[in-house]
Amino acid sequence: MVKNCELFKFVLIKLIDILDIMDVVRRNYLLPGEKRDIFIEWMKDMLNHSFVLNLPSTFGETFTFVETLIDEHRRNGVSSRLSKAVPGMGRVHTPLPLRRAYEEYDKKYCITQRKFIRPSFNEIRHIVNLAQVMEIGKNLKLISFDGDQTLYSDGGNFEPDSSLSNALKELLKAGVYVAVVTAAGYGLVGSKYEVRIGTLLKYLQDEGLTKTELERFYVMGGECNYLLNCSVLEETTEAGELVQRARLVPVLPEVWQAPVLVGPKPAFWDKDEVNRVLDVAEKIMKGCIEDLHLRVQFVRKERAIGMFPGGPKMVAQVPVGHGSNKVKREALDEIVFMLKEGLQQAQPPVELPYCVFNGGRDVWLDIGNKSVGVAAMQAYLNISPDSCLYVGDQFLNTGNDIAARAVSPCIWISNPSETGKILQHVLKQYGLGDKVTGEPATAVPSSASASSSAPTGVFNAFTGQMS
Ligand code: IMP
Ligand code: MG
Repeated sequence: MVKNCELFKFVLIKLIDILDIMDVVRRNYLLPGEKRDIFIEWMKDMLNHSFVLNLPSTFGETFTFVETLIDEHRRNGVSSRLSKAVPGMGRVHTPLPLRRAYEEYDKKYCITQRKFIRPSFNEIRHIVNLAQVMEIGKNLKLISFDGDQTLYSDGGNFEPDSSLSNALKELLKAGVYVAVVTAAGYGLVGSKYEVRIGTLLKYLQDEGLTKTELERFYVMGGECNYLLNCSVLEETTEAGELVQRARLVPVLPEVWQAPVLVGPKPAFWDKDEVNRVLDVAEKIMKGCIEDLHLRVQFVRKERAIGMFPGGPKMVAQVPVGHGSNKVKREALDEIVFMLKEGLQQAQPPVELPYCVFNGGRDVWLDIGNKSVGVAAMQAYLNISPDSCLYVGDQFLNTGNDIAARAVSPCIWISNPSETGKILQHVLKQYGLGDKVTGEPATAVPSSASASSSAPTGVFNAFTGQMS
């Protein structure tokens, strides 16, 4: 009897193995690092010891210790103690004066005085940001920004009347290059990007920036695929008046990806391979849309595919399902991981850089990513990573800003108002503390035209089309 039972168990296990190999039994994965930043979580745990022992005075020592570990990590990479404590710890481009940043932060927010609430994830994120800004200080030569949720709210347009626009103006005047490196890809059509940031260009011009200062402003669209530069053009208004306007004009790929430059050359990637990757992703994305009963729209561009809420008309097409107005976060993340898995398993293997991300309301596969975009800007402007800052909101593994970390020191903010605040620190550290003015930025969610030169009608920020 016992023998039969053992035999049955053995056969059952074998059967499951065989079915599994045949992919009949599907296993689900619990991803350990999903939606977490392991470095910050680890620091939070380290600080926890001081907190529970009621020894907040030792917070500072902990930050000094992390500083030492970072120095060692910068020297030894994967064999560093930090790599062991934080698996997958990436490149750190500069030393980080975390102790000094913590002390400044504590002076204002008095975390050491708290009895019940330990230092939070967000507080540590702010301290790391501050340390990064302190370290770059006067060396800053290029500051690049993500667009959605960093300079303006998701799907919104830039709001110029803020500390944020003032800070951008001061940095441009001081000789710093400013770039928006956004996933939003509207080809080389400057007027489409002007819908989102036209008000900023107008503000900068109205504030009297010179032609040279304005020309330090760039937009990199489609992650790394389309570079545009601010230029002052002479235009005739409807009333027949001749005016000068700050506009976005394309920079030819042959110029910013010239053979003499050491940066990446996305414009010259094999077109058939680009299309193959898009085909693979399209199939997966469409399968997910069907399986998850999503009421979404799908778009395929030259170098991207995406899906976003489909609007009321999709309700009749998918009577039982969701997503006409908003797609659940869980569904968006599921599609991201399905795409990642499918692309990793594609044969022949995909060697082109790409980016799959949950944009908050949508999911995208873009050819190229922000590490390519920022590295190309660094090569074009001849600026090394230790003189750069990249500011973005999506540094988890389902986001698209995380790629920039490979090539640039980064600042992790959660909304445009935080961008305004951190820029005040950037100005102070740069030696322009007296220029800090204005309230933290607010963002206006709007899909309407933002600049007089932009196309008329309602602009669809997902597709780049007017409707
Ligand atoms: P970012 O935060 O500035 O990088 O912009 C990301 C957002 O741009 C996405 O969440 C989309 O809403 C929008 N977007 C518009 N066109 C594209 C595209 O071609 N690829 C990826 N995102 C796009
Ligand atoms: Mg963003």
